[in-house]
Amino acid sequence: MKKLSDEAKTRLRSRSRLVHLGRDAETTLGFVNVPPFRGSTVLFPDVATLKSRKQRYTYGTHGTPTTDALSEAWSAISGAAGTTLVPSGLAAIVVSLMTALSAGDHLLMTDSAYQPARNFCNDTLKRMGVETTYYDPLVGSGIAALMRPNTKAVFVEAPGSQSLEVQDIPAIAASAHAHGACVIADNTWATPLFFSPHAHGVDMAVEAGTKYLSGHSDLLLGLVSANAQWFARLAKTVDQMAIPPGPEDVFLALRGLRTMELRLREAERQGLALAHWLKDRPEVLRVIHPALPDDPGHAIWKRDFSGSSGLFSVVLKPTPERAVAALLDGLELFGMGYSWGGYESLVIPFDCTNYRTATRWAPGGPTLRFSVGLEDIEDLKEDLDRGFQRLAAAA
Ligand SMILES: Cc1ncc(COP(=O)(O)O)c(C=O)c1O
Repeated sequence: MKKLSDEAKTRLRSRSRLVHLGRDAETTLGFVNVPPFRGSTVLFPDVATLKSRKQRYTYGTHGTPTTDALSEAWSAISGAAGTTLVPSGLAAIVVSLMTALSAGDHLLMTDSAYQPARNFCNDTLKRMGVETTYYDPLVGSGIAALMRPNTKAVFVEAPGSQSLEVQDIPAIAASAHAHGACVIADNTWATPLFFSPHAHGVDMAVEAGTKYLSGHSDLLLGLVSANAQWFARLAKTVDQMAIPPGPEDVFLALRGLRTMELRLREAERQGLALAHWLKDRPEVLRVIHPALPDDPGHAIWKRDFSGSSGLFSVVLKPTPERAVAALLDGLELFGMGYSWGGYESLVIPFDCTNYRTATRWAPGGPTLRFSVGLEDIEDLKEDLDRGFQRLAAAA
């Protein structure tokens, strides 16, 4: 088998890239997969090499063949100059903000951001002298009016992981760049397979690899890809913070990478099937899913995204909390838990009113977020159908 050329790495389509990038039989002595290289110490053959600072691997915190394999593959599918790995999705958000911001700077943060990211902005970033303003995710090019002379970063998340507003990222990026600000996107919902972040003006793209890259709910991992303008600064910041992910987690993520497109496409197909089914239920007020033609974010989603994942939300018609609990507590196939993107289906009640500050969240009824897995769709519908019967009995 011929070694993959640089030309082939860019020519191949995404499914082939996911299978072949980041592995090289020369490094792995012929074995198919890159093993989890464990290690703190890396040995140097002689003083000259030690002093030359040219040896590829020097110490465990600075990268291993395992982390390089994933970073290289992720950069290729993201269209990025480089990718850094950290131990969780939240850590990826944190390092991207630490890269872009300094004391005295101002950050524009979408009101739809992953809630724990707000804690970092409101507490640690504030303590470091960075001020955060939350903005309406649907602001579009109106972001220009919110820019201050010291605005150095604009953070977007599209769609928001609970409320699923689709942001106009190219318009926001154009305004931010005209102002000299860096654009950071949490791209976890779409992954680079369904939204090409850097081609749409994003400087640093965050991915919680915990979700679709892992796909099996058994690891935590964060990735930040960056364009040529930002990668050196990102890499330096992450290197100085010395927070490498565990080798086993990176190894498992590489395994997830090989099947990510298949799982994602299936999650999309199953998610849409369930979204359509829920839309027709008498207990449901509204389904929030950007790929549904009547969703408010549909036009922008269609313009910028090439697919939807299996994560979407549902607004139920007003009903007492005990009825929602009766629905959820008796489910056989949908687990309740704070993550998503695994092979198993999940559902979680959520309420954005607790933390929103720039926009008002008033959906008109109790809200549930679904992460649709790989079970048979008919079994999933039957499980929910029984749930709706319990809801009606308890209302
Ligand atoms: C959109 C989004 N970004 C980031 C994260 C954080 O990822 P992690 O759980 O790996 O810290 C999450 C987790 O739920 C998320 O939903």
